[in-house]
Amino acid sequence: MGGLFDFMLPELESPMTGASTDAVMGFIHLVSFILLIGITIALIYFAIKYKRKSEDDETPLITHNNTLEITWSVIPLILVFIVFGWGYKGWLTLQSPPDDAYEIHVSAFKWGWTFGYDTGAQVSNEVHVPAGRPVKLVMQSEDVIHSFYVPDYRIKQDVLPSRYTSVWFQAEEPGESQVFCTEYCGTSHSDMLAKVIVHEPEDFKIWLAKQGSGGGTPIERGENLVGIHGCTSCHSIDGSDKIGPTLKGLFGKEEQLADGATITVDENYIRESILEPKAKIVAGFENQVMTSFEGRVSDEEISDIIEYIKTLE
Ligand code: CUA
Repeated sequence: MGGLFDFMLPELESPMTGASTDAVMGFIHLVSFILLIGITIALIYFAIKYKRKSEDDETPLITHNNTLEITWSVIPLILVFIVFGWGYKGWLTLQSPPDDAYEIHVSAFKWGWTFGYDTGAQVSNEVHVPAGRPVKLVMQSEDVIHSFYVPDYRIKQDVLPSRYTSVWFQAEEPGESQVFCTEYCGTSHSDMLAKVIVHEPEDFKIWLAKQGSGGGTPIERGENLVGIHGCTSCHSIDGSDKIGPTLKGLFGKEEQLADGATITVDENYIRESILEPKAKIVAGFENQVMTSFEGRVSDEEISDIIEYIKTLE
């Protein structure tokens, strides 16, 4: 059944979670296709057979036909039960990650994804996983409702604030798959993308070891923080204007504010803009959407971010 419907879905990369989805989908398509052909043929056949032949041709009055009515009720009922039972079985599989699943924490925010590993390593907008092993994602949102969707794995799960949700998959081969946010979450919803990168188990261990535990120099830590908190979703580092002003050449710059005042960007201004984004709005960005990072970044982290911004000349 699979081959005929391949054009409808991308190639399945996680058979353990996706095979039953594809099977049910194939079944529904096959049944729909058979019914479409059958009904169309019957329609054409009856239209020709019962065409009005003469002026005094009259349609007989038929009130009902028990055999026919029971048949066309019971057959669809059986089909619906098959689809339900099959789908329910697949849903149960998706709800029960294997006990030995490798766990990764996912934090969703407007507009990006951060993935946290047990080693303390954190990466943004790329989740690296080992091939041939179940991976369980424990997910949480920092702001609004997002949804984690990987078409290649046939998995989709809402990510909520103040509550954990989880989803699992097992990619069999090394490769890359696209992650989408599939719950409308504001201006840059469509840019809220990430990649799943599947490594051979040995290569995964090497990759993870290289990530360290979040250390590094202040500039490296700052660059990492800017990625983790998704700053670059709205503030470019190449001089282009996104939703917010660019970070390139920001430090020491003369900035025109929306209320007409002019300020020179220094440490205190950047710190205030992170903790209280609405305090001083740059002219041209009146429609600003940034929320406060009070409580989300520490003083040390703000210092690291400032050190990093200083390097973006
Ligand atoms: Cu996050 Cu859409």
